[in-house]
Amino acid sequence: MVSERELAAARRLLAAAGSLAALTGAGVSAESGVPTFRGPGGLWRNFRPEELATPEAFARDPRTVWEWYLWRRGLIAATEPNAGHRALAAWEQQHERFTLITQNVDGLHDRAGSRRILKLHGDLWQERCSGCGYQRRNRALAYPALPPPCPDCGAPLRPSVVWFGEPLPRMVWAEAERAVAQADLLLVVGTAAQVYPAAGLVEQARCAIEVNPASTPFSSRVALALTGPAGEVLPALLTGGRDKITTCPPPIPTA
Ligand code: OAD
Repeated sequence: MVSERELAAARRLLAAAGSLAALTGAGVSAESGVPTFRGPGGLWRNFRPEELATPEAFARDPRTVWEWYLWRRGLIAATEPNAGHRALAAWEQQHERFTLITQNVDGLHDRAGSRRILKLHGDLWQERCSGCGYQRRNRALAYPALPPPCPDCGAPLRPSVVWFGEPLPRMVWAEAERAVAQADLLLVVGTAAQVYPAAGLVEQARCAIEVNPASTPFSSRVALALTGPAGEVLPALLTGGRDKITTCPPPIPTA
């Protein structure tokens, strides 16, 4: 768990930062009960991404792909945002110069009250037509027929998420890169940082703090790695007091 000393060091970096960005991953929703992808019990331990999360899989078997996404919708609908999501939403309300970037498609940041969210991998609650580009938000957990047909042109609707082999939404990615370039500090929360290009944002950050109970390829490269769960660390960090100013990277303490 994170020590008071580490937390104080992180708060000083935060106090020194004029602008902040946060990159979140599946781990920020873990304490809400949403499975991550790669950890113990992770989705990619039990399911094969190439059968469920690629354009080829959808072309081959759209019904199975939809069943998997509707199963995930049902699971997520039964969860609530946790203290980590809420701390980020509260920070946004109090700070103009903040950008939330997420790899998550679960919608829990929205439900916690975050309003400006750059969704790199799309949104599980958004659907779009594979033919004409029609889009709609939908909280349906079941459909009379799968895949559901587009009300405009009849072609199959698909979940508006990014599948393996697909590019990220161009404008969203450009805004995310700009936000990270302009931020004095990037919080990297609950991501294994293995999926690119999203993980590349950590490399572009001027200064970063990681929040994760496990170590990642970036743990030794960030200014501070806070080893703990987001639902505990984020409220402690973001709702704590402002400390003495420190520039990044923090000075190495002498014995
Ligand atoms: P992963 O499942 O790869 O990693 C989850 C990370 O969350 C791990 O590093 C865990 O240690 C950490 N974690 C677990 N519990 C946590 C907690 N309570 N607080 C903070 N961190 C915790 O998920 P992502 O890195 O988000 O892409 O995965 C990235 C992308 O890979 C996903 O967006 C998805 C997936 O394939 C697509 O579907 C395109």
